[in-house]
Amino acid sequence: MRVFEANISLQVCAFLKDFLNNSSSFENANQKILDAFSINRFFENSDDFQVLKKSVSLVDTSSVEEFDRSEYGDFQTNKDLANKVVQHLIKKDISPEIVIEPTCGKGNFIIALLSNFKAIKKVYGIEIYKPYVWETKFSILDFLLSNPDSNKPEITITHCNVFDFDFKDISKQIQLEKLLIIGNPPWVTNSKLGSLNSSNLPSKSNFKNQNGLDAMTGKGNFDIAESISLMLLDAFQNHNGSLALLVKNSVVKNIVFDQKDKRYRVGEIEKYCIDSKKEFNVSVEAALLYCQLNLAPSFECDEFDFYSLSKKISFGWLNSKFVSNLADYNQTKEIDGVCPFEWRQGIKHDCSAIMELERVNGHFVNNQSDEIKLEEDLVYGFLKSSDLKNAVIKSTRKHTIITQTKVGQETLYIQHLYPDTYSYLMKNISNFKARKSSIYKGKPLFSIFGIGDYSFKPYKVAISGLYKTYHFSLVLPQNNKPIMLDDTCYFIGFDKIEYAVYSLILLNSSKTEAFLKSITFSDAKRVFTKDILMRLDLVNLANTISRFEVETQIINLNAKYNLDISISQWDSFINDMKPMKENQLTLF
Ligand SMILES: C[S@@+](CC[C@H](N)C(=O)[O-])C[C@H]1O[C@@H](n2cnc3c(N)ncnc32)[C@H](O)[C@@H]1O
Repeated sequence: MRVFEANISLQVCAFLKDFLNNSSSFENANQKILDAFSINRFFENSDDFQVLKKSVSLVDTSSVEEFDRSEYGDFQTNKDLANKVVQHLIKKDISPEIVIEPTCGKGNFIIALLSNFKAIKKVYGIEIYKPYVWETKFSILDFLLSNPDSNKPEITITHCNVFDFDFKDISKQIQLEKLLIIGNPPWVTNSKLGSLNSSNLPSKSNFKNQNGLDAMTGKGNFDIAESISLMLLDAFQNHNGSLALLVKNSVVKNIVFDQKDKRYRVGEIEKYCIDSKKEFNVSVEAALLYCQLNLAPSFECDEFDFYSLSKKISFGWLNSKFVSNLADYNQTKEIDGVCPFEWRQGIKHDCSAIMELERVNGHFVNNQSDEIKLEEDLVYGFLKSSDLKNAVIKSTRKHTIITQTKVGQETLYIQHLYPDTYSYLMKNISNFKARKSSIYKGKPLFSIFGIGDYSFKPYKVAISGLYKTYHFSLVLPQNNKPIMLDDTCYFIGFDKIEYAVYSLILLNSSKTEAFLKSITFSDAKRVFTKDILMRLDLVNLANTISRFEVETQIINLNAKYNLDISISQWDSFINDMKPMKENQLTLF
């Protein structure tokens, strides 16, 4: 049964029908509910009171229109999971007196708390969606009617945006009471909210103070659960108690990562991995983040399976390094340093329908199967993440048009020098103009990004940023032209094929793989980033590999890919790498 678009049990409906008929005003009803159930401000105003009174007498059992709740990251915790989380806290000897559920939804956590904890004095729930506020209140009534002898803490469910809620006010009221912050904040990112034109964001939407470039590369993308968690830690880190929130794994990682700067007074940070498919029917890695408040700041997190409680790994900060597996990192940490070569991200054009071409019977065809006539000069072989499967790549399935040699370069020259290319691009100008990203605003026609001298290096060693394969590819020129990569890939470029091959051998070594596994998070959207790859100290890595091993690898590559590489330049390669630490390297 539903009232105010909220589920309501028969018991509560029958109770309210009778109760509201005998209440003269909303103030009178609020006082009676406070006396009987300790729920504060059950009715926010007289309207709510009148409407509910009418509604319960004419309960609407028909189905109600479902709203699009995507901007609210709405994944309600099922009752069983809420109970299991609470049971888990009981095993940890937690017995809270004050409880805060920052985005309480339909209230399943609040009911699990009322059912299990006897010492609670106050419960605060906050929720932005009014029907859920009602559903929480109805569920609490139902629980208290069914369990008349249960503990009755003072309960306040507030209908508001959590970013407008004054947690500092509650913080001031708490003295020595034990606090529990519990819940499951919204699973939605700021960029998703941006695409929905939603205002469901913290007031400073760029709350991590990241710049425009970070926003462009995705670094500025954060989950609003993260900003809610940080807001709570800001307000309550100095109180005795604990925090237990269901969040995406990326949120746990970011919170531990941010500990280096924020140094919140939280310890015993733990992550309990849940099966999100089973619990929420979504394919997002998520976990229960648990920590104790008011302890000396901790910089690492122990990871467990939520169901078996078996320990998996520990991750976090080791001195000044952030690592995904502290035990494994210790075995490989000597290669954690600064890469002597600068890793670059590939080309971004956001116009694959027009810019990605295939060569069919001597002419080009785009994604819409249009046959196109183009001059060859601006057309280059193009690789995407899915193409980086082999150790050596000499040819490409796709091609792209490189309209600029550096970012922001004027593109008028295309009209004069390459009329066919120009006419194709102009014919499809609407596709370029429809590109949403602000990076293209005010830039020359057909602009691309991730382009520079480095893009034209003939020999490249590349890896996909998206795939969990710890495998690098050597990319060789095609028809004497360098092959380009898209922006899901990262690469280093060389003028000498020997240097590229030596780098490839180092990067595909078991030591590199073990090191990368110990510092990357396989559930990240981008497993590899420029920051991660720049940590590969190839000079130290070269010292861990014997000359004999390098030579054996070269022989294998020569035989398999018909190359003609010798080890004769190995020593000069190592010498040339060293000056980079003083920023003098001239390999690019
Ligand atoms: C992932 S659901 C979890 C609900 C509840 N905590 C639970 O565990 O079942 C997130 C909840 O946050 C609410 N929400 C989203 N944005 C909010 C905001 N800015 N302020 C308060 N609540 C919000 C949604 O309506 C939704 O009920």
